[in-house]
Order: sequence, then C-alpha cells, then structure tokens
Amino acid sequence: MPRADATEQSTTAAEFVVVANRLPVDLERAPDGTQRWTQSPGGLVSALEPFLRSRKGAWVGWPGVPDVEVDAFTDDGLILHPVTLSSAEVRDYYEGFSNATLWPLYHDVVERPVFDRSWWESYVRVNRRFAEASAAVAGNGATVWVQDYQLQLVPSMLRELRPDLRIGFFLHIPFPPVELFMQLPWRAEIVRGLIGADLVGFHRPGGAQNFLWLARQLIGLEPSRGAVGVRSRPGMVQVGGRTVRVGAFPISIDAAGFDSIARSRPVIERAKQIRGELGNPQTVLLGVDRLDYTKGIDLRLQALHELLQEGRVKPEDVTFVQLATPSRERVEHYQRMRSEIEQMVGRINGEFARVGHPVVHYLHQSVNRTELAAFYSAADVMVVTPLRDGMNLVCKEYVACRHDLGGALVLSEFAGAAAELSSAFLVNPHDLDGVKNALEAAITLDPAEGRRRMRALRRQVLTHDVDRWARSFLEALGAEPSA
Ligand code: ADP
Ligand code: G6P
Repeated sequence: MPRADATEQSTTAAEFVVVANRLPVDLERAPDGTQRWTQSPGGLVSALEPFLRSRKGAWVGWPGVPDVEVDAFTDDGLILHPVTLSSAEVRDYYEGFSNATLWPLYHDVVERPVFDRSWWESYVRVNRRFAEASAAVAGNGATVWVQDYQLQLVPSMLRELRPDLRIGFFLHIPFPPVELFMQLPWRAEIVRGLIGADLVGFHRPGGAQNFLWLARQLIGLEPSRGAVGVRSRPGMVQVGGRTVRVGAFPISIDAAGFDSIARSRPVIERAKQIRGELGNPQTVLLGVDRLDYTKGIDLRLQALHELLQEGRVKPEDVTFVQLATPSRERVEHYQRMRSEIEQMVGRINGEFARVGHPVVHYLHQSVNRTELAAFYSAADVMVVTPLRDGMNLVCKEYVACRHDLGGALVLSEFAGAAAELSSAFLVNPHDLDGVKNALEAAITLDPAEGRRRMRALRRQVLTHDVDRWARSFLEALGAEPSA
C-alpha cells in the first residue's frame, strides 16, 4: 500500500471514473505530525481496488481526515482526486446523515435512525461537491461509476452538469424494504437522485424490486421488464427520453488473489505459527469484521458463552479470535456497541480462561492481507453472523483461502452472500439456539463432509469473482463490450 510521497498533479481527463465517499487510501496523521497513506477500511475498497488498478482509471473520494487539501496524485497507475470535507461536514454528512440515518435505516433499523434536517442539508451540499469534482475529472463521454449510500444524489447532480456522461450507480449495502424506506423524510429526493444514473445496481433482486416500486410510488415512473444485459430479472424505467436500468449484481472478491496468497509459503508458515501462539487448541473459531453493530459480534460471543456454560464446548478445546477493525468511532451507536462487546469478552475470559490461555482473543485492529489470509487458513470455523449485510466479503475471502478444503463456515441468512453460499452452515442470527447448534455442528464436523461443503463453496466463489461482477455491471451499463 501507498506511498506518502506519491503526489503529482494530474490534469488528464479520465475515460473511467469511480466516485466513492472514500479514496482507496486513507491519510493517517500521527501525533508527531507525520503523515502516511494506508488502505481504507471496508468491503467497497477491498472489492473495487484490485479491479480499478488493473484498469488505470481515476478515483474521486475523501482522504479520510477533515480539513485537508490534497492535490490529485497518481498511485500505481490510478489517479486519485481528493475531495475535501470540513470537520462540520464529517460530523453532519458522514457521521450524521450517512452513518446515523441511512446506515441504520438501510440495515433493517437494527439501531434507530436519527432524522436531522441539518444533516440532510450537509448531505446535499457534499453530494454536490462530489458531483462537481467528478464533472471536472471526467473526459468527454466518459463512464462515471458512483458508489454507495453516501452519494445517492450524485447521479442526478452529475447528469445536470454533464449530460454527455454514462453514469452507473451501485449500492454496496442492502436496499431496505419499502416500509422502512418510506420513513425517510427525504425519500423522494433520494429516488430522484439515483434515477439520474443510466444503471442502478443492487446486490439482490429484492433491492432492485423495492427501488422500482418506490420509483413508481414516489415519482410516478412506470417500470417495464426485460432490460438486455442485466441479470436477475431486472427492470427499467423511462425518465423523459432516457432509459434507466435497474438490476442485481452480487459483488465479490479477488478470489484468485486470496487463493494464491493462501497457497504461499509465508502464509502457510504463519498460519501454523498462529495456531501455535494460540496454544494449538483443537478448534480455532474466527470472526473478522469492521466493529459494526450490524455484524452480530455480540451474538456470536453470547452463543459461545452459553455453549461454554452448558459444557457443550470445553474451554481447553476452543479458542475464539475476533479481529475487529475500528470503525466510525465517534458515532454513538458504535461507542455503545464497542463497550458491550468488550465487556462480553471480559466476562467470558473471566469465567473460562486459564492463566496464559484466554478463550477469546479480541484484537481491535486491522491486519494486512497476508496476516488476514494466515488467520483464515488457521481457522477451523469462520463465524459470520450479521443481522443484516449487503453482501459480506469476509465469508468469501475465507472460502477463497481454503484450497486445503479445510474449515467450516457459519453464515447468517441475512448476509447477501447466503444466497450464493448455500453449503455453509446457514443460521438465523436472531435465533440464539440455532446459532449455538450451528457452531457446535461446525466444531464437530466430520472432515469428509467438511471437504464436500468447502468444495461446493469454492466452486461458487472462485468462478464468481469481483472481475466478473464489475464486467457484468459495466456491460449492462454499455460501458464494456459484452463477453
Ligand atoms: P463491510 O464492507 O461492511 O466492512 P465486508 O465483509 O463486505 O464488510 O468487507 C470487509 C472488508 O474489510 C473485507 O475485505 C475484510 O477482509 C476487511 N476486514 C475486516 N476486518 C478486518 C481486520 N480486522 N483486518 C483487516 N481487514 C479486515
Ligand atoms: C462499508 C460501506 C462502505 C464504507 C465501508 C467502511 O463497506 O459500504 O461505503 O466505505 O463500509 O466504512 P467507512 O465509514 O469507514 O467508510
């Protein structure tokens, strides 16, 4: 990853532009005033970055810290165009409207969304800034691909500024049921914002259907079926003389990259070393998430706690490792959840650890890709239990790393990935007994049955990678010739 010194002004108009709230790299400022670029957190960047680097496009986004002005720079062939956000905008547009209104609303109201008019005003202002920045970067007739819930007004704003562009939009999080979306005071404005795109993509067909229903109810657009090139029974609507396509495009990972890194000698060695450092327990359970209340980290801890209390799992036999990337730390929902999780870890270890052998290892840290692949390779049971998740890439990364056909995946039915990964142990995360049973079944899994399941999972993940996802979206957008 980057490369603090890679600054170099770029003025060339780009043929292909990605617009996302975050750049693929984050500017980190140390207390001593030094700065460095690190990989940005989250699935959007993990998925898009490898694809974009192979394409050498431009990326418009925020560098991750408030009040900094950074010139455009080229990083490994990708031209990065930083958009500045003030501290007030980070508070109102990013932490507020994006992450305390839209995020909980779109994730089944797992936490109560806050509706604040001044946050909305900030969201509109910042979306306009992103639209203007994209308009300035895109060449004549270029393709601009707008990403995610933070920028839902950009497609229409950009179309007004630059009618010559081909505009795609992809939502990386779930699109909610219409009853929930209708709570949003600015629901019509959001739908109008998205409809500025030529193609609006969701992970699941249900999201596309909800959106089409809302487009009719809120702004009177009549959907019709049968858009060419869009999979999963898509629809389209006519807006003026323009056709807007709507469809489902389940995102994925750089599967070959994870497969190959997991086969490398350093990762194999490191996986052994990790198991050794954990005291070579019979079973290593693993969770890998941004520390987010949608991820169900508390549920899996509670399930483990009860299994230990009931003696169904022995503390000397299992070790649970939870890697949790710090996330949105100034948003109150996140602060509350963090302290609850940390208390649960303390309680489980207080009751069941022996000196030098905690049952739960909790790391509130991000690890690099090699280390992550080693953890995946070392884990007997991968535990992915979100209450709601657009896709969830972690489960796909785990599968891609298990070339040995070892390991078992416990996966929530409410992750978008569940539709593709039916050979996992699928669980309803609201059903704690069901989660406990699935964990126990995965821990005691017969190896032959485990290999059968993992082979089926790998067949899906290795043949449906992020490259295929991006190509199918861009083909449907008409920005790429059909395969
Ligand atoms: P989200 O986008 O909501 O964060 P995903 O599961 O789709 O969830 O993507 C998360 C991405 O972040 C994955 O690529 C995963 O490898 C990475 N990740 C999550 N936690 C960590 C961690 N502790 N260290 C390193 N990478 C992590
Ligand atoms: C999810 C969202 C992304 C977001 C990422 C990290 O993947 O879909 O849009 O970038 O989480 O969250 P953050 O708030 O740190 O950007």
